[in-house]
Formats: sequence, C-alpha cells, structure tokens
Amino acid sequence: MQYQEALELVRRHGQEHLLQYYGELEEEGKKKLLDQIARLDWGLLDLLKSRKSTEASKGHLEPLGALEVDEIERRRDYFESVGTKALQDGKTAAVLLAGGQGTRLGFDKPKGTFCIGVNRELYIFQCLIQNLMDVVRKVNAWVPLYIMTSEKNNEETIAFFEEHAYFGYHPDFVRFFKQEMAPSVGYDGKILMEGKDSISLSPNGNGGWFGSLQKAGYVEQMKEAGVEWITVFAVDNVLQRINDPAFIGAVIDSGAECGGKVVRKADPNERVGVLCLEDGRPSIVEYYEMTEDMIHLRDEKGNLLYNFGVILNYMFRIDRLEAIAGKTMPIHIVEKKIPHLDESGALIKPKTENGYKFEALVLDMIHLMNSCCSYEVVREREFAPVKNLHGVDSVDTARALLLKNGVEL
Ligand code: UTP
Repeated sequence: MQYQEALELVRRHGQEHLLQYYGELEEEGKKKLLDQIARLDWGLLDLLKSRKSTEASKGHLEPLGALEVDEIERRRDYFESVGTKALQDGKTAAVLLAGGQGTRLGFDKPKGTFCIGVNRELYIFQCLIQNLMDVVRKVNAWVPLYIMTSEKNNEETIAFFEEHAYFGYHPDFVRFFKQEMAPSVGYDGKILMEGKDSISLSPNGNGGWFGSLQKAGYVEQMKEAGVEWITVFAVDNVLQRINDPAFIGAVIDSGAECGGKVVRKADPNERVGVLCLEDGRPSIVEYYEMTEDMIHLRDEKGNLLYNFGVILNYMFRIDRLEAIAGKTMPIHIVEKKIPHLDESGALIKPKTENGYKFEALVLDMIHLMNSCCSYEVVREREFAPVKNLHGVDSVDTARALLLKNGVEL
C-alpha cells in the first residue's frame, strides 16, 4: 500500500493519527506501518462504535449436568482402556493456547516461562509438559503437541523450549504456530500506537486457534497422520491434565462431538462460565449472564443445577471443527492495560485498564457443536489457574495447590 492510499483510508475511519510520525520514519519503518494499515480489520472499529460486541444474547438455557467424579471412578478402567487405545493409535493431538499476553500477571515474557517454583526452577510450561509426560509414559506413545503463540511471543517461546531441551518432551512431536493479531483501541475509539512505526496489535483471542492451525498446514498434517480428535487447553493452569486417557475415553465413549472438563462451583456466585444447554445445544453461560434464580436453582438432592464451571480444557472432533471453520465467531470487546504512545510520543505502560482489545473465544466454539460431554474433574487436583500475581487465581493460590498435590517447589 502506498502512503496516499493509506492516508485516505485512515482519514475515512477517523484514524489520521496513525500516520502522525510517518515523515520521521526510515524507509523500513514506513513500509512496516503501511503494511500494518493495509492489514487492519476496520470492521472491528464499527463494533466499537455500536458499543457492543457481536455476542448474541442467550437463547433458552437449561442445565446440562456432567459425567460426575463418582461415576467416572466407577467406570475408570473402561474409560482408560478406550482412551489408551485412541492415544496409542495416534487418534489425538493436543493444542496448547499460549498466545495470550497475560496482562493481569504483569509479567512481560510469555506466561509459560514464568517460574512458579520457589526454591527451584519450575516453569509453567514445565508443569504442563510434565503432566503430558505422565500420559506418554502411561500409554507408551507420544502425543503430538501444537503450541499456539503470537507475533509478540513466538520467538521467545521457541527459544525457551530449546534452551530447556523441551523439558524432556520429544522435539519431533512439538510444533509452534502463530495466531492472528487485532488492533487495540483507547476508550475514545482511536487505535493505539506502540511505536512511531507500529500500531498496537494484540493477539485476537484464543477462539481463532483452529483457523491459525489450518493456515499453518497442521490440520492437514494431523489428518494425514490419522488424528481424529484435538484437545485444546490453557497455558495458565499449572495442574492442567492434558489428554489423560480417562477423559479421552469418556468423550469418545459418549458419542458427543466435543467434551469439556468442568469443576464443581466453589459457591453459587463463583465467577466462572458454566457448561449448559442453550436452545438444545451445548453452550457456556457466563456468570454475569445468569439470573439470580438460575444461580440458585437446585435439584431434589439439593445440588446446584448450573453447577459445573469450565476450565479451558476441551476436546473436539476434527471433522466437526472443519465443518464450523468458516462460521463467524462472536467478537468480544475486552478492557485491558495496553502499552501505547502518549501525545508526546513517549511509551506508556499503564497500571490500570486504558482501552479495548477484540477477541474471539474458544468457549464460543462449544455452541457450534451439536453435543458435548461435560466431564467433572476434582478442582484441587486439576485446576490451579495463574491469572494474577496475588489474590484469586494467582501465583500464590497455584503454589499452594501444587504443594497440596505433592509437587516440590
Ligand atoms: P486469558 O483469557 O487468561 O488471557 O487466556 P491472557 O491474555 O492470557 O491474560 P490476561 O487476560 O491478559 O491477563 C486464557 C488462555 O488463552 C490463551 C492464553 O495464553 C491462555 O492460555 N490466549 C488468550 C491465547 O492463546 N490467545 C489470545 O489471544 C488470548
């Protein structure tokens, strides 16, 4: 794109400031900026103008229940045998979502490289790999692992894995791919700049993972290798159990198109997304979308009916993912702390939220499936998210839970 064309484009959208420093830039910087402008998704700004995301309001909601821990224990041997066979036959692959920026943690490197150990080195990535290694040892087969990064953290993530010899994982079974980026905007709707030659672009949410995986050519690779199921999970849960045979087996046995691990709510008002049915299809209802009545609804035994919160650990049938690949996902407008240039051109790293990012979310893929196996896991054993440094879902709480599970820190 040439300067004049870019100028007209930014003017049309009221974003002239993007070219404010153009005259000061070297040739390379000029080209970079024009390229970024050419690739911007202007439709996102229209969303902001109408002040609402494309999240549709929820349809008719009903509880979904779950395959509960007691029943899983009773049928564990069977589920494990089904899962083990699928793992040994190479029917599963795992996708680790590590493209986020972890702004709440306030750590400026990839979140997986954060050391959760106290007296020894124990990194978040290491915890996840060690848990996956348990499966590899148990079934005696490697699980292909695809790690999603972003433009912002790809190189650092790869370098970290190489530096640590993949924490013992077989490098031939690890692949990295990058997700797409979207512009960040201030509260006034102006796109933020993070350098004189660069627009503030941030990863476009974890919902675009399948499209990015396809673009990288890895879906074809998986299918050629006979993969039928993909598990997908968050980087920040240090107790995350990935591709464990019982879960894989239970989801396959259920005949559902996808599965999701869930934990029993700690209390009715816990701020988690709950797996339920919406207009007869699986769906995740956020805590703020539930009415007071729904929150407290109980069955005849006194159990909450909307009781099972998701922990970002899902499993999808690959053919169903391909079938929904072209569908538009809702875009969520999320408030975040976004580094940006101020009027004087100085880089500011804000301590409080200062604008919006646009994100598609993996949880919205669940509603595009016809059926979902909701699979209960024990919270203290499988759910220790690291979102913040202290307080709820923090480094402190995750450390306490790791200790409880016998992990040396
Ligand atoms: P979060 O929703 O916690 O977002 O991600 P985040 O960006 O990591 O952290 P905050 O909100 O800025 O503090 C949940 C999971 O989804 C991944 C994250 O890496 C994490 O595993 N994710 C999130 C992506 O892979 N890409 C994204 O664009 C966003």
